[in-house]
Amino acid sequence: MKLTLQLPETPSRTSDIIIEDGPFVRYPEFLKPYIGKRLDYWIWDSRVWRLWQNGVKEGGWPDLDSGRVVLFSAMEANKRLFALEELAGKLIGAGADRGSVLVAVGGGVTGDVVGLLASLFMRGIPHCQIPTTLLAQVDSSIGGKTGVDLPEGKNLIGTFHQPLATWMHPRFLETLPYEGLRQGMAEVIKTAMIGDEVLWKYLESHSFSIRRREREALERVITACCILKTRVVEMDEKESGLRRVLNLGHTVGHALERLSEYQLPHGEAVAIGLVVAAKISVRMGELPQEDLDRLVRLCIAWDLPVQLPGDTDPDAVVYALMTDKKRIGSRLHFILPVSIGKVRECSDLDLTLLKDVLSSLRGGKVSRFPLSRD
Ligand SMILES: NC(=O)c1ccc[n+]([C@@H]2O[C@H](COP(=O)([O-])OP(=O)(O)OC[C@H]3O[C@@H](n4cnc5c(N)ncnc54)[C@H](O)[C@@H]3O)[C@@H](O)[C@H]2O)c1
Ligand SMILES: [Zn+2]
Repeated sequence: MKLTLQLPETPSRTSDIIIEDGPFVRYPEFLKPYIGKRLDYWIWDSRVWRLWQNGVKEGGWPDLDSGRVVLFSAMEANKRLFALEELAGKLIGAGADRGSVLVAVGGGVTGDVVGLLASLFMRGIPHCQIPTTLLAQVDSSIGGKTGVDLPEGKNLIGTFHQPLATWMHPRFLETLPYEGLRQGMAEVIKTAMIGDEVLWKYLESHSFSIRRREREALERVITACCILKTRVVEMDEKESGLRRVLNLGHTVGHALERLSEYQLPHGEAVAIGLVVAAKISVRMGELPQEDLDRLVRLCIAWDLPVQLPGDTDPDAVVYALMTDKKRIGSRLHFILPVSIGKVRECSDLDLTLLKDVLSSLRGGKVSRFPLSRD
C-alpha cells in the first residue's frame, strides 16, 4: 500500500509512505528510486540493530563493514542537541557530504533526531524513515516534524523536514515489547476517535489479533492511521489550524507528563487526556455517554489508565496547562470529541468545568509520581 503525502507548495513536494508486509528483500527495490545516485548513510537505533541485523541481511541492507551504518543509543535522554553533534561527526568521519541521504531506522526518538539532523547537515540533505515502533509507524514518522528536547521541555528545538519516503514494515513490531505496543495503542485509539469510526470498531473487535502481532491486523491499523494523519498534514503541514486536531488528549496529557517530570509514560498520559476530553464533552451535552463508555473499555483492554491518580491536584494540572511553553495566546484550546470519529475545536474552555471533570476522574491508584505542585 502506497500513500503519497502531497504538500501544496511551489514547487510542490511529496513524501511517500509505503506500508507493506513483504520480505525485507524488497528493500533495495523500494529505496533505490528515492536514493538515486546519492550515497546512503544509515542511522540505526542500536537496540533495533542488535535485534534485526541478522533479519535484514537477506535484503542486502548495508552492514557495519560498509562504513555507512551509524548506531545511535535511542532514548529520550539522548534526544538532545549533543546527539546531533555526535552523529554529524560520525557521518563526516564516514565520508557523508551534501550529496548524501540519511536513512533512520528506529522508533520516534531516532526519527525525530535523524530528521532534525538531515534538515541541518550541510544546510539540509534528504532523508528516509524506517520506523520500528508502533508509535512511530502510526504517528511520529509522518508529518515531517523533527526535534530534540531541552531541559526546559520536550521538542522545543525542531524543524519541519519531510522525508522523501517512509517505509512501514509491521514485522519490526514482532520484537517490540508489549509495553511499547500498549503505549502506541493510545495514539491509535486517539486517531480512531479523531476521524475513523471504522477503525474504532475494528479495534473493539480485534485487540487480540493486534496483541498477537498478527501482520494483517497490524497492517490494517497502521494503514488507517497513516491515511488519517496524511490527510490532516496535507491540509495543514505547519500546524496553523487543522493539524491541531491531532492533539486530542494531548493537552491534558502533556500537562500530566510535565507534572510527573516525564515519569508518566506518554501513552498513559494520552489515554487519561482522551478520557478527560471525552468527559468534558459529555458534560457539555455533546458526546453521548455511551461513547465515553466505549473509550473507557478500549483503554482498559489495552491496560491504559482511565482515571487520574488519586493524589492528582486539579489546580496543578490547570496551572501546568496554562504555563505550557507551546501554548498560543491566553485561552485554553481544547480538542473535544463529539462522537467516535468526529472532533471539534473548543477555543475557550470553561476552567471550572475542566477542574470539575479532573476532580471527578481522580481515583486511580495513588501515582508513583507526584502529580501535584510543590
Ligand atoms: N515527530 C512527531 O510528530 C512525533 C509525534 C509523536 C511522538 N514523537 C516523539 O517520539 C518519541 C517516542 O517514540 P517511541 O515511543 O517510538 O520511542 P523510542 O524511539 O524511544 O522507542 C522506544 C523503545 O523501543 C525500542 N525499540 C524501537 N523499535 C523496536 C523494535 N522493533 N523492537 C524492540 N524494541 C524497539 C527503542 O530502542 C526504545 O528503547 C518521543 O520522543 C516523542 O516526542 C514525535
Ligand atoms: Zn502523542
